[in-house]
Amino acid sequence: MCGIVGYVASSQRAGQHQAMDVLLEGLRRLEYRGYDSAGVATIADGRVAARKKAGKLANLVAEIEAAPVVPALVGIGHTRWATHGGPTDVNAHPHLGDGGDLAVIHNGIIENFSALKAGLVRAGESFDSETDTEAAAKLIGQFYRGEAAGDLTEAMRLAVNELQGAFTLLAVHADQPDRVVAARRNSPLVVGLGEGENFLGSDVSGFIDFTREAVELEQDQIVTITADEVSIMGFDGVAATGKRFHVDWDAAAAEKGGYETFMEKEIHEQPKAVEDTLLGRTDAAGRLSLDELRIDPAQLKGVSKIMVVACGTAAYAGHVAKYAIEHWCRIPVEVELAHEFRYRDPIIDSSTLVVSISQSGETMDTLMAVRYAKEQGAKTLAICNTNGSTIPRESDAVLYLHAGPEIAVASTKAFLAMITASYVLGLYLAQLRGQMFSEQIADVLADLHQIPQKVQHILDHADAIKDLAREMAQSPSVLFLGRHVGYPVALEGALKLKELAYIHAEGFAAGELKHGPIALIEQGQPVFVVVPSPHGRHSLHAKVVSNIQEVRARGAKTITVAEAGDDAVSEFSEQVFFVPETQPLLMPLLTTVPLQIFACALASEKGYDVDQPRNLAKSVTVE
Ligand code: G6P
Repeated sequence: MCGIVGYVASSQRAGQHQAMDVLLEGLRRLEYRGYDSAGVATIADGRVAARKKAGKLANLVAEIEAAPVVPALVGIGHTRWATHGGPTDVNAHPHLGDGGDLAVIHNGIIENFSALKAGLVRAGESFDSETDTEAAAKLIGQFYRGEAAGDLTEAMRLAVNELQGAFTLLAVHADQPDRVVAARRNSPLVVGLGEGENFLGSDVSGFIDFTREAVELEQDQIVTITADEVSIMGFDGVAATGKRFHVDWDAAAAEKGGYETFMEKEIHEQPKAVEDTLLGRTDAAGRLSLDELRIDPAQLKGVSKIMVVACGTAAYAGHVAKYAIEHWCRIPVEVELAHEFRYRDPIIDSSTLVVSISQSGETMDTLMAVRYAKEQGAKTLAICNTNGSTIPRESDAVLYLHAGPEIAVASTKAFLAMITASYVLGLYLAQLRGQMFSEQIADVLADLHQIPQKVQHILDHADAIKDLAREMAQSPSVLFLGRHVGYPVALEGALKLKELAYIHAEGFAAGELKHGPIALIEQGQPVFVVVPSPHGRHSLHAKVVSNIQEVRARGAKTITVAEAGDDAVSEFSEQVFFVPETQPLLMPLLTTVPLQIFACALASEKGYDVDQPRNLAKSVTVE
């Protein structure tokens, strides 16, 4: 939520990288974090040159191309997801302080901004925007002129000690053309290390074109970057050192690679995402060994309850995890939206394992839930795709997805990778606790290893799904039904359609239909049904077939996603999309894929931007 970049180079770098080029490239890569407006500020000839524009980054780029700014070696850039104040030119960042000599950009929410603003107005400041950020800019400016006596780092330090809420702030000043000063509390920020140049970014994609060497920052730290130096201190002024790390993917991994959109690319990367999530999880004897978990197996053995906390698509992965983990491990699992979890006084103790699931590792609601769980004495385990992000750093244990960067705002490959990782976790717990025989675990693992080629099969036979999406482009509403693990798949299918195609879509547990939602069915209402396997001891197949008949009897147009060979379903479906056979619990890894393809194709047919749907942001770093 909001993308932030900062850059500073020595004069020797002039002609190699202009600040503006680095900033715009960084913003291009970070635009998935928010695209309500974009803005930059550079310093040259002792002046701040700020440009900002509502709408996507392309609007800002066009403006800069039409009227270029003076070449510079230092600057900051921002792409916004609006919180305080609408997505207008005026509310776009940067915001100015110190009479226009100071430029500030911000990610997060400053909760006490009204009180600060009132004080600053009394002190003679006037405000142009409705943002909370402008109060921070004016405050840093006041300190710069006053108590900090022209020291930008100190002015930032004094200011952040007055702020409440979550923020990453970056500042440049006309008098200090050799540095960018940044501060972070609860919002993300990483440093990129170059030679004769240094970088700041909300995440490493902000500078991945220029360096893969990076430094993690802790909470409540201030960093000052010059061309040759990176100095870090706490909000208390005490010097600190950051943890260096190497980024193990390159810029090409974050490009479209021949696909029209990141979403299509990421849907097609799913076989590899599942494969990479499974990679290296077993020892020579074929037993699961999760070395990267960094938690004492004895502690996991003693777990009496698991609570999964997550948001959006990640929460639906958590719902799938519940069915699998409870079945395999016989441990009670609760799944809760992270933002509801901590406000309901959940019952947690030291034998509770709180599992967070997050692609970004930065979702504020999920982070706060993890912190709350830790305060209550629970053990915390993060299932996460982003190395070095805040949630895994603050958790006791981590299971990385290794699915590669996911750029499209709506999640696809991370969803399949999250489900895969939670299966791995479930099987590992079952192994530790002796709940399954090793042959049973090996059997599930073998079937999991077959999933990538089965997903590939679905991707290779997707034309009929895309044709249907084109035919259905004008549908005002689509319903999704499923039972058991098909239920979270139905929820995810509906979410994808809402997010990408802005169509009213609802997912229901098929058994719940008769308790209310069936009233929605009228002639021609499209209903997708995720049909369970007809095999297996406790198959719900017959019950779902009855549900299909109930909606058809009331005029619904039923489209089913079913296991190959399930002929019983064809006769009750307008259209069936078959997926290859697998174990019933693993079916979400296959049945989700046609629904993703459908939503993506339908949104493209309507001419929508599937990578950056309206009003959304990929990494939601505010509560
Ligand atoms: C945002 C995105 C969703 C995503 C959710 C959780 O709302 O738009 O696509 O599922 O955040 O993100 P996380 O990074 O925690 O998985």
